[in-house]
Amino acid sequence: MSKSLQAIRGMNDILPGQTPIWRYLETTFAQLLDGYGYSEIRLPILEFTDLFARGIGEGTDVVDKEMYTFLDRNEESLTLRPEGTAGCVRAVLEHGLSGGGQVQKLWYTGPMFRYEKPQKGRYRQFHQIGVEVFNQPGPDIDAELIVLTARLWKRLGLADAVTLQLNSLGSSEARAEYRDALVAYLRERFDQLDEDSQRRLTTNPLRILDSKNAQTQALLVGAPTLSDYLDEASREHFEGLKARLDAVGIAYQINPKLVRGLDYYGRTVFEWVTDKLGAQGTVCAGGRYDGLVGQFGGKPTPGVGFAMGVERLVLLLETLALVPEALSPAPHAYICAFGEAAELAALELAERLRDRVPGLRLLVNGGGGSFKSQFKKADKSGARFALILGEDELASRVVGCKPLRDDGEQQNIAWDALAEHLAACVEQA
Ligand code: HAM
Repeated sequence: MSKSLQAIRGMNDILPGQTPIWRYLETTFAQLLDGYGYSEIRLPILEFTDLFARGIGEGTDVVDKEMYTFLDRNEESLTLRPEGTAGCVRAVLEHGLSGGGQVQKLWYTGPMFRYEKPQKGRYRQFHQIGVEVFNQPGPDIDAELIVLTARLWKRLGLADAVTLQLNSLGSSEARAEYRDALVAYLRERFDQLDEDSQRRLTTNPLRILDSKNAQTQALLVGAPTLSDYLDEASREHFEGLKARLDAVGIAYQINPKLVRGLDYYGRTVFEWVTDKLGAQGTVCAGGRYDGLVGQFGGKPTPGVGFAMGVERLVLLLETLALVPEALSPAPHAYICAFGEAAELAALELAERLRDRVPGLRLLVNGGGGSFKSQFKKADKSGARFALILGEDELASRVVGCKPLRDDGEQQNIAWDALAEHLAACVEQA
């Protein structure tokens, strides 16, 4: 097939067999968030390139290597959003949603774009469900975000499949001091660093901490650690978070090397990881970004949030066989109609039934066909009943109702009584 008729590498169609799982995840999440008082926000997929360059930071992989950036017809540089936080902060500022210290608890979902090397769990168009909270400076909200994700894992049956990693990045001053100490330590060992880490030593030295290179990791064993450089206020904040997680019984591992790949973080960072998906095991990640609103020119406003990768969650549910069976329920009934007059009557009858029976799943055979072929389609649809409408039935205003899932007898039901019959069927299901 010619290349232009294939989807772009790393950008996937989500086919009808999969969409029920996506809907299940999205509705489970939306219902959960309703219960915590969060509101949905819908944001554009395109933003000015500068928003991401400033927000996520020059020197990060996302900004330097992974953005889909182009000039529009007006010669403005635009970028397909690689993540949701920068756009959300922009919208909150633009519409004054955080003015006067107003607390905002927001969530969003949708596609994100990064030019990464595609592999299992890593795509160029992927989807996130994210949450951002503004004007809540204390560790109580960090804890709430973690608690609500833990509740989501429980609802999805994933509680035993994921673990929580936590770290504090401290204030920007503490981080700068630590960065200097780390750079000094690694400069002395420059030749032993892998090539990527050598480059990062000038662009983004903290990212060397999560290098996958074994020799680099060995070098880091004796390196200064961020926790030794934490400022007092950040230390207290972190202790406050840990105490709250302890109080509600959420287990965590402190990972001093967890630094995250985006520049806006300070203080709390966290990741939920699984060992069931190979290399792309982070299913949800986030942290605090108290400096970002100020950096965009707004009044200093505390912010904290996270985003989860929907593809990774779908993969995890499938891998662990945790997809609920009843996600795409079969129709209750399938109408087979024979002859033009019956086809017209079938359409009218179906619409009347849909008016009268809430929740009814009713299919009407399309395209005519023999008795045998229509019956076969009715059976294949998984419907409980075939409703048969031919010339005789039309004349006596009945349908032949044939059970398809048990050996019950076919019986004639008057059109007027059909709604009641199907309502009982909907209720049973
Ligand atoms: P992130 O760690 O870059 O953070 O992405 C969050 C999650 O999105 C990842 O943990 C992963 O599950 C998923 N993800 C990221 N890249 C890909 C990819 N190429 N393919 C599939 N899934 C992917 C952020 O984006 C921050 N905005 C999160 C945040 C919100 N922090 C504060 N608020």
